[in-house]
Amino acid sequence: MEKFSASSASEILMASGVPGEVLDLKSVGKGDVKRFSTGLSEVDRCLGGGIVPGSVILLGGDPGVGKSTLALQVVANLLQEKINVLYIAGEESAAQIKLRAERLEQSSLGQMKILPDSNLATILATASIERPNLLIVDSIQTVYNPEGTGVPGSVSQVSGAASKLVELAKRQNIATLLIGHVTKEGFIAGPKTLEHMVDVVLYLEGERFESLRLLRAVKNRFGGVNEVGVFEMSGQGLEEVANPSRLFLDEETVGRSGTSFTAVMEGSRVIACEIQALLSKSSLAYPKRTAIGFDQNRLWLLLAVLGKYGRLPVYENDVYVNVVGGLHVDEPAVDLAVAAAAVSSLLDLPAKSETAIFGELGLSGEIRPVSQIERRLSEVERLGFNKAVIPGRQKVGKTKIELIRVGDIQEFLRKVFGRGKKT
Ligand code: TYD
Ligand code: MG
Repeated sequence: MEKFSASSASEILMASGVPGEVLDLKSVGKGDVKRFSTGLSEVDRCLGGGIVPGSVILLGGDPGVGKSTLALQVVANLLQEKINVLYIAGEESAAQIKLRAERLEQSSLGQMKILPDSNLATILATASIERPNLLIVDSIQTVYNPEGTGVPGSVSQVSGAASKLVELAKRQNIATLLIGHVTKEGFIAGPKTLEHMVDVVLYLEGERFESLRLLRAVKNRFGGVNEVGVFEMSGQGLEEVANPSRLFLDEETVGRSGTSFTAVMEGSRVIACEIQALLSKSSLAYPKRTAIGFDQNRLWLLLAVLGKYGRLPVYENDVYVNVVGGLHVDEPAVDLAVAAAAVSSLLDLPAKSETAIFGELGLSGEIRPVSQIERRLSEVERLGFNKAVIPGRQKVGKTKIELIRVGDIQEFLRKVFGRGKKT
């Protein structure tokens, strides 16, 4: 008898498959992607221009941040455009959803179709009969497959359910919005793996006691990432904020000590913001350093540079830094603005009025160029600033703003706070 060899094994495998069709890339059309708008331009922006049919979008965020509210507002807009939606309510009863819908005061929600069920098989069967343009699953953690392993919400259940829903979306061309909770660690409860399965990942962020909400795209197969949508939670749902800079600036504080102004890049948009610092003599052996909206380690670094190259007694002080309005800034371009707020508080001297500050601070006290300076300048100019402190080596195109160039921290302290020798 013939021995079973490797080659005969692969022959067996080959015989059992049906050959697929191989395409020439040049014969492949781009496939007109006809997106549909969510009716909220801030959401469309994050999606790269609207919802792509058959795409799967994951909307993550802390419980209570407003995911269901946002989803419902999208539903209201789509229904107005006669786009069919099926809403799977695994988390709340139909009555609870009705209550929220009433709060939003959108009459089109009367036509909304809801399936209050969390059984995966029921959801799949219903969706393939209803064939909605958009299927919303609120939330993916509640979907349960009795035949699968694990309890509802476990990694195996959630990723199992998600992969079935993705399959349905692709096979029947049903755009699908999966809503997921994020745990404290920033993971969508259980599977970070969900992010790999879907086309678009959006996170809705916000502080519990502030009305500001940011919608961020962290993955997008059909558009740019790092896009941000800005909303304010109101009594009637989330309101879009087309001009967010105003939210982060407080006119009252212009000219006070301990504040500075800058502009940060959030995706493709620029947002002007205010930074506040408070330095007060510490009675502790290890002075306190606290930063809200800014990286704590970065703050340590800036203080060390101010101490060593600025010769300022920052060591003896407790330091608190806050980015106004609940924004989180993690760009090095804001270093100098944070340093300016700290110095201003320490010396109890306001920074120059109507001056925006830009620059990355290096470890040897040098001030480095920042990206997209023209866009940052034009945003602060629009808001009425007429001067800007910028890095010495920064290349800048035409601008109406008066530029104050600073090459290192000493020059900065001299030009902005009048500290040190004139040279
Ligand atoms: P929700 O959408 O239920 O959050 P999630 O689905 O992310 O858990 O939003 C809950 C919070 O939003 C709740 O605290 C009430 C508040 N809210 C408003 O402030 N205004 C509104 O119009 C609505 C509908 C909710
Ligand atoms: Mg919810």
